[in-house]
Amino acid sequence: MQIAMIGAGYVGLVTGACFSEFGANVTCVDKDVNKISTLKEGKIPIFEPGLEALVQSNVQSNRLTFTTDLKTAVEKADAVFIAVGTPSRRGDGHADLSFVFSAAEEIAHAISNYTLIVTKSTVPVGTGRQVAEKIRRICPEADFDVCSNPEFLREGAAINDFMRPDRVVIGADTDRARKMMREIYRPLFLRETPIVFTDLETSELTKYAANSFLATKITFINEIADLCEKLGADVHDVAKGIGLDGRIGSKFLHPGPGYGGSCFPKDTLALVQTATKADSPLRIVEAVVEVNDNRKKSMAKKIINACSGNVTDKTLAILGVTFKPNTDDMRDAPSLDIIPTLQAEGANINAYDPEGMHEAKSVLKDVSWCNDAYEAMAGADAVAILTEWNEFRGLDLPRIKSLLKHPIVIDLRNIYNPEEMRDAGFIYSCIGRKR
Ligand code: UGA
Repeated sequence: MQIAMIGAGYVGLVTGACFSEFGANVTCVDKDVNKISTLKEGKIPIFEPGLEALVQSNVQSNRLTFTTDLKTAVEKADAVFIAVGTPSRRGDGHADLSFVFSAAEEIAHAISNYTLIVTKSTVPVGTGRQVAEKIRRICPEADFDVCSNPEFLREGAAINDFMRPDRVVIGADTDRARKMMREIYRPLFLRETPIVFTDLETSELTKYAANSFLATKITFINEIADLCEKLGADVHDVAKGIGLDGRIGSKFLHPGPGYGGSCFPKDTLALVQTATKADSPLRIVEAVVEVNDNRKKSMAKKIINACSGNVTDKTLAILGVTFKPNTDDMRDAPSLDIIPTLQAEGANINAYDPEGMHEAKSVLKDVSWCNDAYEAMAGADAVAILTEWNEFRGLDLPRIKSLLKHPIVIDLRNIYNPEEMRDAGFIYSCIGRKR
């Protein structure tokens, strides 16, 4: 099986490396010359646990190659996956499909024999058919099928999510396409992974519905956490108490500063747009988007309140700036709302993140970047934990106390126990738990 993966970004790289691990010959194509030469040197331009080793071993086995030459890669491919970005268009929530359509046009000029074209990128309902129309218009005699195969990978856990998925969703119209997708995912069939075969439109919508539902779950527990604070209840016990109900499930009920990342914010907005356009508004998802936006903003206020309502000329230590741990991704991270708001209130920021500082430096200004958590806390008036990196879970509490001017800890990820923190002499704030 020869696979061409168009787009060597996060999704393309992980998917390409995993298919090659399954035994296919994969060529990852990207227009970015620097990215391709970095990859050819065996270096990975993103931080994703396990990815570098997987790429290197498959490159050594000659099953994984990188190129900027789309035409040659597509000509010899049995299946072409489109895994290019679909960013939110500035100003509205529509997904920008220009990369998808320009990839489709280039593919149309290159296909020779029967080719299965698969959209892996998250694309609005109807995009698969539009891709097929574009290809048909450019190359009326082309022998191909278009199919939809959304990804459900989480950054930081992507390899495991790919190798052991809860399910695979495939939207295909023909037996030939279904047969080929079965062949591509053969190792997962052997492991009895549930595979949902459906049509193109349903598959495309399933991806948006999945992300929007997860974003709703998070937003629900975040609002319950706020209510817990008012009522003196504990959100972790509420989450446990409801999550043990099999109909609800315990995952994605961890309260925090609001969801971020490259997917939930973009996909919830895009689904709202699709629904509004189809005259079938999704009120719940609209509320989720609004509540989450407000939440990220209100988190700075929570930090300020913990500092007696005033951070002017105070130094705040910020631990973690990425939208979640095990990634260097800064896209839509709550820190992007929180840090500038604190700065606007006159605070000086010392910050540390294990992997995100390189990315963060270009989007967060006037921050003193530190070499570790303790350096960030030295002489600071308070510390706020924004991302639950493992290395922040077991910090040396007496050392923190000796470093901070005031023993104020604001834990926006609930990684410490309120009682233990109080007993250790901290003024501790967290999300939705009894102090
Ligand atoms: C998400 C989905 O989980 C994947 O299934 C999907 O494939 C991916 O989007 C995508 O569309 O490509 P990801 O954005 O990598 O994956 O990150 P998640 O682990 O889902 O976390 C998203 C956000 O929700 C983070 O900001 C995280 O801190 C937050 N979150 C998550 C919570 O606040 N509470 C939770 O209980 C879980």
